[in-house]
Formats: sequence, structure tokens, C-alpha cells
Amino acid sequence: MILIQVTARAPGKVILFGEHAVVHGKPAIAVAVDRLAHVTLTGRTDSIIRAEISRLGVDGYLNLENETINTQGYQIEVGLLKYVLKALKAVDHRTEPGTGLDVTVDIEMPVASGLGSSAAVTVATLAAASKYHQLNLKPKAISSLAHLVELEVQGAASPIDTTLSTYGGVIYLSPDVQEIVRLPIDWDLPLVIGHTRRQGNTGELVESVRLKKESYPSVINPIFESIQEVTEEARNALLEKDENKLGELMNINHGLLDALGVNTPALSRMVYLARQKGALGSKITGAGGGGSIIAYCPEKMDEVISELQKEEQAFPVKLRHEGVTCNVIE
Ligand code: PMV
Repeated sequence: MILIQVTARAPGKVILFGEHAVVHGKPAIAVAVDRLAHVTLTGRTDSIIRAEISRLGVDGYLNLENETINTQGYQIEVGLLKYVLKALKAVDHRTEPGTGLDVTVDIEMPVASGLGSSAAVTVATLAAASKYHQLNLKPKAISSLAHLVELEVQGAASPIDTTLSTYGGVIYLSPDVQEIVRLPIDWDLPLVIGHTRRQGNTGELVESVRLKKESYPSVINPIFESIQEVTEEARNALLEKDENKLGELMNINHGLLDALGVNTPALSRMVYLARQKGALGSKITGAGGGGSIIAYCPEKMDEVISELQKEEQAFPVKLRHEGVTCNVIE
């Protein structure tokens, strides 16, 4: 029996414009970033599937038949193994029952922080397993299977994260058909991410915005309309590499997210510290309520990072043009 080893890598993402409004039929723009999830599958001679996320101290056994995970660790980190299990199950074409695997996961981004760690892990697992079982699934199949895995594990999910983890690049989610358009952005789009340890709960935040809209439709609907206009303008600013306009639109989008009630004192402090240190623009990214901010500060990356690091975690990212990649060692 030849035991092969397959490693796949898939990028995380940030939402640049349009979060929350996208849930109400408005457009959004999101970008794949150069923080990756690495998933390695190594064949075993027994029937055990053992999974490990060593950086998070998670280690356990997966049972594909009854879909159980036997493990130790913190709940959120262990939760990532659910994506691994569902993804392995989705492409489990074992001819000999009894073929085990060692699965090692390494993640270069904080989890549950709006950076798409679960989608990156799911896409990398699917790509690695597809290669391992010699199915060689095309990106389109990986992307849609990954979206199904996210739906199964989370109950609800937009296809933004899984699309970016699969294809890389920048996407525009159009409002009418919720169709995904890839934007031809050929520059690096350097960003600083500021990340607070407090995690926002996306489902609860989406629900709180929906309730606000129900209570004050004449106030909240125009905010969604404004976010739509910001996103449309930002699409042109990105295509034309108009950096000042991009920054200003980020600031406006942040104000509108604040008005929707998803800001927190820690996020707000990071947003304004970044601007004080020379960011052209800064805003919450993703659901808010905790999680992360992004700052666009191409000339001031170091200054902004060291200022944010005084209170929270901060690191640089840039656009990752490449999507999921795979290599095999026999
Ligand atoms: O924090 P994230 O990356 O899960 O983003 C949530 C974005 C929302 O617009 C708030 C919800 C959604 O499903 O689009």
C-alpha cells in the first residue's frame, strides 16, 4: 500500500464594503487575503481518522460513519473540526473501508474573527481530499461543496467566504441576482487588520440589524441605500486605484455600520487610532460586535500596526490573487 501525503492551502478573506446591507439585498465587495489555512492529509495503515490543529491545541478522532468528533480543546476551536469532518465526508470515496488518515490543520489567522477561517479550512480540506481520492474536483465543484458544508455546519452562510477561499482575488456580490462577479484588480491592496479578542456572534448581529430595520424602516432603509452607493463608488475606486476615494468610502461605510449598532468601543478605538496614525480609511470588517477592523494605510503600515498592537492584535495582509492550491508527495 502506498501512503501518499497531500497538502492544500486556501486563503481567508475580509469584507471591504457592504456587510450587513448584503443580507438585505444590497451589493458587497470582499477580498481574499494572504493568510492561509493549510490542511495536510497523510494515509494511515489502520482505519483511524485523527485530526490535529496544533496551533490551537486541538487534537481528536473523527468518525465519518456516525459523524462524531471525539476530542479535547476549547469549543470554538474544536468547532473547526466539524468543517473538516463534513468536508471529508463530502468526498469520502474510500474503496477499502479501513483506510485511515492523519489530518493536520494549520491556520495563519485568528478564528471566529470575520476572516473566513472556517471557509478556508473547508476549502483546503475538500481540495486535499479530492486530490487524495483522485477525484480532482474542479474549483466550481469545490466552491459549491464548501458552501454546502458551511450551510450544514452553521445553518446559514453567504457564498462570499467559500468563493474567495476557492478562487482568491476580489469579488463583487451583485444586488439583483446575488450573482458573484470577479473584479479584475491587479494591485496588491495592502491592509492592516486590527483584531480584538472579543468575538462577535454573526447570527445575533444580523438579527439585531433586522429588528432595527423592522422598528425604524424609514431610518434604516436609507442607511442600506447609502451603503449600496458607497459599495458602487468603491467598486470604481478599486478598479481605478483611487486610494483617497477608497479610504474616504471606508470611513463613510464605518459610520453607517456604527449607525446600524454593530460597533463596539474596542473596534471604534482601533478605527480612530488607525486614522490618527495616517490611515486613509478604516472600518469594521464583517459582522462587528467584536472581531476585526481593516485600515488602508499603504504608506503607514508599520506606524498603524504598532499603535494598534499597544491594545489589541494587528497584522498586515494583502490581496491574494491565487485561490486554493494543492501538492502531493508520494
Ligand atoms: O463576520 P463575517 O465575516 O462572518 O461576515 C458577516 C457578514 C454579514 O453581512 C454581517 C452577514 C452575511 O452573511 O453576509
